[in-house]
Amino acid sequence: SAAEKGGYDYFMLKEIAEQPKAVADTLLGRIDLAGNLCLDEVRIPASVLREVSKVVIVACGTAYHAGMIAKYAIEHWTRIPCETELASEFRYRDPILDQRTLVIAISQSGETMDTLMALRHAREQGAKVLAICNTNGSTIPRESDAVLYTHAGPEVAVASTKAFLTQLVACYLVALYLGQVRGTKWGDEILSVIRELSEIATQVDEVLETMEPVRELARSLASKNTVLFLGRHVGFPVALEGALKLKELAYMHAEGFAAGELKHGPIALIEQDVPVVVVVPSPRGRSVLHDKIVSNIQEIRARGARTIVIAERGDEAVAPYADHLIEIPVTPTLLQPLVATVPLQVFACELATARGNEVDQPRNLAKSVTVE
Ligand code: AGP
Repeated sequence: SAAEKGGYDYFMLKEIAEQPKAVADTLLGRIDLAGNLCLDEVRIPASVLREVSKVVIVACGTAYHAGMIAKYAIEHWTRIPCETELASEFRYRDPILDQRTLVIAISQSGETMDTLMALRHAREQGAKVLAICNTNGSTIPRESDAVLYTHAGPEVAVASTKAFLTQLVACYLVALYLGQVRGTKWGDEILSVIRELSEIATQVDEVLETMEPVRELARSLASKNTVLFLGRHVGFPVALEGALKLKELAYMHAEGFAAGELKHGPIALIEQDVPVVVVVPSPRGRSVLHDKIVSNIQEIRARGARTIVIAERGDEAVAPYADHLIEIPVTPTLLQPLVATVPLQVFACELATARGNEVDQPRNLAKSVTVE
């Protein structure tokens, strides 16, 4: 009913709007003012976490994209090798697991069969499993050694939005916690991440306030057949997530690429007027990546692409090559997905609506996939 949707036309719109609160709730009480992680709820003893030699993340769909981003944070902050794998592929390739492997299973519903089978396999091999889950008492956390709940609240729309942002927050918390129990010396970068995490809910809110041009753009693209998405570093999983949202909601051909792969094939797809959404890393920090993606944008634009650029506010170097510029707040590089994903959700939702699709219940899909 309309009341259930809190005055919004669709659950998805309501859930997109709830993201600042979902993010804040997931952080609540888990980092103190001094920057200490308080995750006693993760019932894996510090002695075990100190011995972890490898982290393996398993998940499906949107949760898998969160896991891809987590890999960047875990390896960069803790120096523990980390791989992220589609849960449905995991057990069938005889993965190498032992008592010193920490497997992180990410799932909004906690009922996804592929993810459940992957974690069962991991536990059989002696690995410790930590679930990141949004649904209290669901099967995945029940079968795991420990759980860190995301506090997104119930997610009804089939397309995952607020759950994704809170999965990212939970992944960052786990990465920082791993670093903390292992005595990693916090450099300035991590200290600034901890500080900025407390600002992120406000920044997501700022993004939501500026979405009208994105909706307008989406409506203008309703008759297109294809939209491509490019990103680099943590912007690559964001590109994949943007494409997934568009597939499931707008039933359009949408594909995400790592921008560095462009010249290895996908650039052949660029033709006159094809919309290409590019997620641009901050010009500060890893500026090499920024410069490379700016030249990618120039290359595709020279071949006729219509460039839709998601870039940090004040990024003047990229602005001249953007047919449409979507500005997002300044964040540390690793946290950028929390703000960069939001315009892509709004874009997909509006495009789907413009095409007359049922946003909350896209065809052929179920909210939780309880079969393998
Ligand atoms: C996301 O928009 C999808 N509906 C889907 O990819 C989903 O994220 C995936 O099925 C995993 O679900 P889970 O988080 O409940 O395990």
